[in-house]
Amino acid sequence: MSPPETSFPKSQIEIVLLEGTHESGTAALVDSGFSVRTHKGALEDKALITEIKRAHIVGIRSKTQLTDAVFDQCDRLLSVGCFCAGINQVDLESAASRGIAVFNSPFSNTRSVAELTIAEIIALHRKLTARSHALHQGIWDKSAAGSHEVRGKTLGIIGYGHIGSQVSILAESLGMKVQFFDTLSKLSLGNAQSVSSIDELVRTSDVITIHVPDADSTRSMFGKDQIAMMKPGAYLLNNARGSIVDLDAMRDAIESGHLAGAAVDVFPDEPAKSGESFSSPLQGLDNVILTPHVGGSTIEAQETISLDVANKLTRFLNQGTTTGAVNVPEVDLPEQHRQDDQRSHRILNFHRNVPGVLNKIHEAAAELNINISGQYLQTNAQIGYLVLDADPSNAAELHKRINAIEESIRTRILW
Ligand code: NAI
Repeated sequence: MSPPETSFPKSQIEIVLLEGTHESGTAALVDSGFSVRTHKGALEDKALITEIKRAHIVGIRSKTQLTDAVFDQCDRLLSVGCFCAGINQVDLESAASRGIAVFNSPFSNTRSVAELTIAEIIALHRKLTARSHALHQGIWDKSAAGSHEVRGKTLGIIGYGHIGSQVSILAESLGMKVQFFDTLSKLSLGNAQSVSSIDELVRTSDVITIHVPDADSTRSMFGKDQIAMMKPGAYLLNNARGSIVDLDAMRDAIESGHLAGAAVDVFPDEPAKSGESFSSPLQGLDNVILTPHVGGSTIEAQETISLDVANKLTRFLNQGTTTGAVNVPEVDLPEQHRQDDQRSHRILNFHRNVPGVLNKIHEAAAELNINISGQYLQTNAQIGYLVLDADPSNAAELHKRINAIEESIRTRILW
């Protein structure tokens, strides 16, 4: 049996995925009936434009730059999927002003960060990287000096969000006592204890791991004073963002022996590309694990990210749902209802958010005497996203009239 007719043939919806996004997401989009082209690498300049100028959807990771000038050339583009957490590579405002919804996947790699953190907590307690390095140099140093079990130690977590809370559960399963500090009131998982001040957490933890976002309030939040408050012989981990911890203060504390070790995955100045040189005040220090911002970089995270973004793009294409969009108002929409094997007609309209637009749209519906069975609206300061489920008989004409309203940015119809 051939698939039911839709407002636009799915096989003519062109999706271009760049930068080798994981194949699971590609397969999910192909299974949904869309036409998908993939590229292993990033593209730029003319090559990028040539490849994406007819695309309805573009999927990228962190390298492809989608600027205002690029969007200018892509008049069919409906949405961008960032198959990563970061969104700096996209001109979000330009995309929003054209009614292009941008999606990303901010939390799909959080398990990977939590697992790296746990691995490092054990590795630091056993001086694992230092011992391995010595043996690679031909030095046999069989000794228990400075090696500890993690069982029974107190782990202090700063930021009890997606990552911090997973670290908490994993650490408890190793027999650690877990306490955390978060600026928001958070439900403790397992036996973790919430403490009321960051100072209390810093003074009473054997290991501290930081999992807060980069924000005005967290920049430089962990410096000389906080490190001085830590227990002698404690460990400090930062797998969150490079702006949070003062690395010079960390180096001084390791050199003086106040801290027994540290692990850092994120730095104030990170090289833009693999292969570029890197320097840090922490290089060459004993029992300090340095990793090149790979906390969230695993094959499993790539797969989870690709499925998450593919799902968001599919819901946007098929239903108009913008949940998880980072630059346009979020509207979570139900499936369109069916009658006589036909879906109600859904009109999706991005418009400039100025007074009077809704009136014009409602007037257009009233003039056509059209029955509206559902209406959904969200706005931000710049744009509004209005979705109308309309009686099929006159919806095409309503779509045309809404599209013609001066403030309309882009209007789609789905059935
Ligand atoms: P999240 O948003 O789920 O949790 C962050 C938590 O920090 C929230 O509960 C928030 O209330 C809390 N918080 C904010 N300001 C605070 C403060 N001043 N003191 C205490 N708590 C505060 O974020 P998620 O997903 O857990 O990520 C945490 C960090 O990890 C972010 O900086 C993120 O960028 C970073 N990250 C690093 C990766 C890597 O590759 N190393 C990969 C993924 C995320």
